[in-house]
Parts: sequence; structure tokens; C-alpha cells
Amino acid sequence: MTQDVHNDSVPSGKSAFVTGASKGIGLAVARALAEAGYAVTLTSRHQDEVEAAAQQIGHGARGVQCDVRDPQALQQAVDGHVAAFGGLDVLFVNAGLGHFASVADLTVEQWREVIDTNLSGAFYTVKAALPALKRRGGYIFTLSSLAGKNPFAGGAAYNASKFGLNGLSEVLMLDLRQDDIRVTQIMPGSVATHFNGHTPGPEDAWKIQPEDIAQLTLDLLAMPKRTLPSRIEVRPSKPPRK
Ligand SMILES: NC(=O)c1ccc[n+]([C@@H]2O[C@H](COP(=O)([O-])OP(=O)(O)OC[C@H]3O[C@@H](n4cnc5c(N)ncnc54)[C@H](OP(=O)(O)O)[C@@H]3O)[C@@H](O)[C@H]2O)c1
Repeated sequence: MTQDVHNDSVPSGKSAFVTGASKGIGLAVARALAEAGYAVTLTSRHQDEVEAAAQQIGHGARGVQCDVRDPQALQQAVDGHVAAFGGLDVLFVNAGLGHFASVADLTVEQWREVIDTNLSGAFYTVKAALPALKRRGGYIFTLSSLAGKNPFAGGAAYNASKFGLNGLSEVLMLDLRQDDIRVTQIMPGSVATHFNGHTPGPEDAWKIQPEDIAQLTLDLLAMPKRTLPSRIEVRPSKPPRK
């Protein structure tokens, strides 16, 4: 059961589009935005799961099947959002996955899946949404990672995708600031989600919770428009000692 925390400071008529929102961080962000008064579209590759997530959120949220590796599908999904809600104010670029293996063992298909989803998918998402965002100004969040600045063994594809996403995000910030579009890259450490086949449980209590990234998103949206925290590192306060 979700708690209604409708925030009267959000003007009605605002809307948000969240990729990779059937679970994990995207779902928590979509829920928080809907509860704050945004009309929200959630996307993921699996129709049943994303529709169930939207229904669970309520508040008129829409669940749309859309693979971020497909620019045409993204354009259709964004156009559908604008047709349903009259515009677009917040874009949360979140869909992502990882394959972890040494370069010798990582397959070309795994490399492509990670880069196509985490990096090219982010570019396609922004391209599809930009005309609508430019119409009335807005906010783009990219969900990067501390893996976008800290390389680790076995992280070839994932590190490369997030290092690239950081570069793309910083360019977007510089390209779009004069169009009244703010861009923030969020770089979390360990978050308790389904990432990489994990099932979140009590042993994840020390990790960042998806709801914490949602809270951060609302806090950033509440910043005065003149000020832009453009790159946010966020980590568990007290990880287990190694
Ligand atoms: N969990 C962490 O510790 C952590 C830390 C730093 C950054 N991140 C980043 O956070 C983002 C969200 O991950 P998460 O941790 O919340 O993982 P998650 O629980 O596995 O959720 C990932 C979401 O992305 C969707 N997705 C995957 N590939 C997609 C595609 N090609 N097109 C559209 N949707 C797609 C998934 O739905 P479908 O499978 O139905 O498509 C799912 O809704 C990712 O970018 C990840 O790299 C995670």
C-alpha cells in the first residue's frame, strides 16, 4: 500500500518519464514523483511487469513497454506520454544492467548489451525527449554510478558505459543549460535492488535504499532554479568492514 504524500507545492500539470521503472531505483523514483503530484510514465522491456508497477503506484501512472536500445520505440513512448499528459517536465534516465567478467571472458554480445543499454540507450532517451523538454524547460536526471569514476577488475563494459554516461551527462548539462533544462548525474554506490539478478533482503539493510535515491531526486527538484548540483556522489554511510 503506498502512502499518499501529495505535495501541493508541485504545480498540477507537471509530468515525468522514467526509464527502467518496473523495479529497483526507477520504480521508487516513479512512485515518489507520482506521490508528489507528477503524472508519470514508467517504462521497461516487459509489458506485464511495467503495467503492474504503474497500477501499484496508482495516481494515473502509465506503464509502457519500451526497450531503450530502440530509438523508434522510445520516440513513440515519449510521444504517447506527451499526448496523454500534455508535455514533459522531468526525464529520469535510469534503465541499466551489467555483465561482469574479465575482458578475456566477456563476450562481444555482453559488451554490446551493456553499452547499448547504459550509454546509447541514455542518448536515445534524451534525443526522444528533448523537443518536449525544450518546450517549457525541465530537468534531466541520469542514473550513473560510482563505477563511472572507480574502475574495478571485471568491470570493462559496465565501467566503460558509466564513464561514458558521465561524459554524456556533463555535455548535456553544458548544451542545455541555456534552454532552461537542468541536468544532474546521480552516481550511487551499492543500492538494494534487483540489479544483476540480486534479490533484495534483510542483509541489504546497510545499502542505499531505492527510496533514498527517490528522496534525493525530489530534493534536487526543489532546489532554486538558479542553482544546479550537477554531479552527485551518493554512498552507503557505513558499509561493512572488509
Ligand atoms: N543497484 C546498484 O547498486 C546500482 C548502483 C549504481 C547505479 N545503478 C544503476 O541504477 C540503474 C537502475 O538499476 P537498479 O539497480 O534499479 O536495477 P534493477 O532493480 O535491476 O532495475 C533495472 C530496471 O531497468 C530495466 N531495464 C533493463 N534493461 C532495459 C532496457 N534495455 N530498456 C528498458 N528498461 C530496461 C529493468 O526492467 P526490464 O528487465 O523489464 O527491462 C528494470 O526495471 C541502472 O542504470 C544501474 O546501472 C545501480
